[in-house]
Amino acid sequence: MPGSITKGEKGILKLKDRLIVSIDVSNKQEIISLCSSIKNSVSTFKIGLEVIYSCGLDIIKSIKSFGYDVMLDAKLHDIPNTVSRAISAITAMGVSKVTVHASGGREMICAAAEAVTTKAEELKIFPPMIFAVTVLTSLDDGDLKEAGFKDGFRDSVLKLAKLAQFGGAGALVCSPNEAGLIKKELGPGLIIATPGIRLPENSINDQKRINTPYNAIKNGADYIIAGRPVTQNSKPYEAVKTIINDIEKALALSF
Ligand code: C5P
Repeated sequence: MPGSITKGEKGILKLKDRLIVSIDVSNKQEIISLCSSIKNSVSTFKIGLEVIYSCGLDIIKSIKSFGYDVMLDAKLHDIPNTVSRAISAITAMGVSKVTVHASGGREMICAAAEAVTTKAEELKIFPPMIFAVTVLTSLDDGDLKEAGFKDGFRDSVLKLAKLAQFGGAGALVCSPNEAGLIKKELGPGLIIATPGIRLPENSINDQKRINTPYNAIKNGADYIIAGRPVTQNSKPYEAVKTIINDIEKALALSF
């Protein structure tokens, strides 16, 4: 069901909602196989650039037919008019979550939030939750400096998170290590999803700002996004179970 929670309704999050599995693969068969092998032990699959450009957006229907919600990691970043019209079309696809880059600016985020509400009202559906991506978890202070940023990642994430909140995004993406800082500075109402999730036994790959599911939840993340730790495991269902156990342990301590 699209928009399974909205801002302020985090209390209704079930354990299986907390882990979003990021499917970054290049063929439909692999996606179908993951949909089936994960046996609905999570509520949501995230698809992004690799799936969009390899399989097309029709794959959303196939994933939903297994009973999963879809987070479309579109990472929209353009002028407000373009993003507004694109996200309106995305809303009609019935995804539950969608991403934009917070660095697109307050007006762009605002235009996206308005477009989603208008389209969802027109179609009488739940609006997808907009997640504003702060700083990619593959970037560290050195990378930001090289790209011309004057601030390090902590200050940059915080500034972009404030922008996202002003623009009405209601949810954002940051690394597991910044979730606590954001909640402390901007309040507990902002919904946070954290990629850069790795268990000690996982390869780090291209990620730089990483942590375990346990620490992510302990730091205040609402959702955990994990891709390769699941999709590159020969037993994806077992990998999901391990991550969910870690999340459960952290939740048991926090409440
Ligand atoms: O395989 P892995 O767990 O590293 O995948 C992380 C997923 O989250 C990828 O699809 C990546 O595009 C996405 N993502 C990210 N960092 C962000 C936002 C999204 O890694 N800041």
